[in-house]
Amino acid sequence: MCGIVGYIGMREASGVLLQGLQRLEYRGYDSAGIAVLAGDGVRCDVLGGMCEEKKKSEGGRLRVVKQKGNVASLAEAIVRSNGHISGATLGIGHTRWATHGDPSDRNAHPHMNASGDIALIHNGIIENHAALRVELGNHGYSFTSDTDSEVLVHLIDHLWKQIPFLDFESAVRQALSIIDGAYGICVISSREPETMIVARKGSPLVIGIGDGEYFVASDAAPLVEYTRQVVYLEDDELAVVKRDGYTVKSIDNIEQEKALTELDFELGEIEKGGYEHFMLKEIFEQPEVMQDVMRGRVRLEEGRIQLGGIADHLDELRAAKRIVICACGTSWHAGLIGEYLIEEFANIPVEVDYASEFRYRNPIIGPGDVMLVISQSGETADTLAALQLAREKGATVIGICNVVGSTIARQTDFGIYTHAGPEIGVASTKAFSAQVIVLTMLALALSKDRTMSDDEVIEALQSLNDLPDQVSRILEHSEQILEIAEHYKDARNFLYLGRGYNFPVALEGALKLKEISYIHAEGYPAAEMKHGPIALIDEEMPVVVIATKTKDETYKKVLSNIQEVRSRKGRVIAIATEGDEEIEALAEHVIYVPEGAQFIMPLLTVIPLQLLSYYIAKMRKCDVDRPRNLAKSVTVE
Ligand code: G6P
Repeated sequence: MCGIVGYIGMREASGVLLQGLQRLEYRGYDSAGIAVLAGDGVRCDVLGGMCEEKKKSEGGRLRVVKQKGNVASLAEAIVRSNGHISGATLGIGHTRWATHGDPSDRNAHPHMNASGDIALIHNGIIENHAALRVELGNHGYSFTSDTDSEVLVHLIDHLWKQIPFLDFESAVRQALSIIDGAYGICVISSREPETMIVARKGSPLVIGIGDGEYFVASDAAPLVEYTRQVVYLEDDELAVVKRDGYTVKSIDNIEQEKALTELDFELGEIEKGGYEHFMLKEIFEQPEVMQDVMRGRVRLEEGRIQLGGIADHLDELRAAKRIVICACGTSWHAGLIGEYLIEEFANIPVEVDYASEFRYRNPIIGPGDVMLVISQSGETADTLAALQLAREKGATVIGICNVVGSTIARQTDFGIYTHAGPEIGVASTKAFSAQVIVLTMLALALSKDRTMSDDEVIEALQSLNDLPDQVSRILEHSEQILEIAEHYKDARNFLYLGRGYNFPVALEGALKLKEISYIHAEGYPAAEMKHGPIALIDEEMPVVVIATKTKDETYKKVLSNIQEVRSRKGRVIAIATEGDEEIEALAEHVIYVPEGAQFIMPLLTVIPLQLLSYYIAKMRKCDVDRPRNLAKSVTVE
């Protein structure tokens, strides 16, 4: 949710931190700040909204610049500080997405103790912060922010002063044993100027290993331009990072052996590559991404699917009593499509649940059941908790994740990576397509000897094989979608309708629109319209109807639904199959997608909906890549 970066080495820390924060900005955006340990022994200064209060505190050498707003305005503030923070080679930086306390200068991280010699950044939520605030207040501590995070820096300070012979590391460890909740923290102190301490519980942290320098971040994006060697911290681990090395320990102070992981993406993959927004870039790279997802896995000549991550477990999966899919947001929509796919191809019963709902009831799940979690980031707090609960209850847990080495990926029994590359735009696009393709491959892999003949499997593989070209064809007609967007950019509401495989796409289309353009939008199964939403329809209401041809009678039913909208003066935008002329008489606008198998349709019909929401948001001058109030990775509940 929020972003963390830390640096210790020989470079100018402020530059590394700012660059890192820019790469993390998609995670959270309401405020940003850095603290560096300057080498010249001057007093502590804080620039930004808290400048006056903190200028009084002397005795340290930490310098902080922090403020409400984005990283670009932080960079300007750093320039305005006139070299205030230059010359430092150790520092920490943070972008915040408010949870406790409004977005403001004073609530921005880093937070400092009163004497200004400890600086801390924190992701997560400290649940017992209110009680600790009172207790620390009784010891004379006062608070300059409304955040739960500030409590932790004072607690470290308090313990460090209170307990004789305690060093920095032990003070942090003691403090962490007192707090309840989730954290990813990075702390520095001028009292131990060669040390950076990082720790995690429920909020991801990764250490980048350089040559005589170390980087810390809440995900790997800021690290890749400096190093490919990284170490992922696990929950309840704490690392002491110095210029000449690092040690990872358990929170109980037992040294841990950590494996190095090699990052597998290029810097170019997290840059915009000539597109105006990451979202647009990610929409347009879907044909390539689809090929990457299927490479080596869809084996047309051999008539089979090869999924390395689950190859040894296929029998266990085929024998599952049922599969429970848990996810959040767009990944949940992919999960709904997974239900159709797995039930159709593999004949295994599937339930799809919001992770946040699953975890807070008494879910009936246990040995013999398989939980399938889907997460682009692999860090979503609710999905992670659902996974842990299912595992406690004895279910086999498998995952579909995009981020290699992410927490969810590591905690599942086995799984399948989507290989969509880093997704930066907050509104998920290519990750959704990749998830649906993985689910399709999974369903086909499970189907063998169950419901499909060899010929049917080959036909399905051929459909997957044709998909990237079909998507390219849709993208070639983006101009038409731009024109349609022009007609509807001022609408206040939208309705999206679809049936069967296209029903979850209707939900996803509506979600995309509301996320980035702030237009209220609802997705519905087309047949449900008459049970309520039809009351909303008038000449002001655009209705996007996904009406691709089907072998059964549902296509005809969708045409009737369009008639119902028309007769109430609603304005229909139809997503239809190429060559379908009948629909032109019914809809105000028709966007065609190539003909294909039923199960391939979501991967085609979602593309125009992604583009429609992108263009509308852009015309409304919304911040497409960083929509208000949203974060790319939701690591709090
Ligand atoms: C956030 C993002 C969504 C995403 C959801 C689940 O809300 O803004 O785009 O679908 O989290 O994220 P995950 O990483 O678990 O797929």
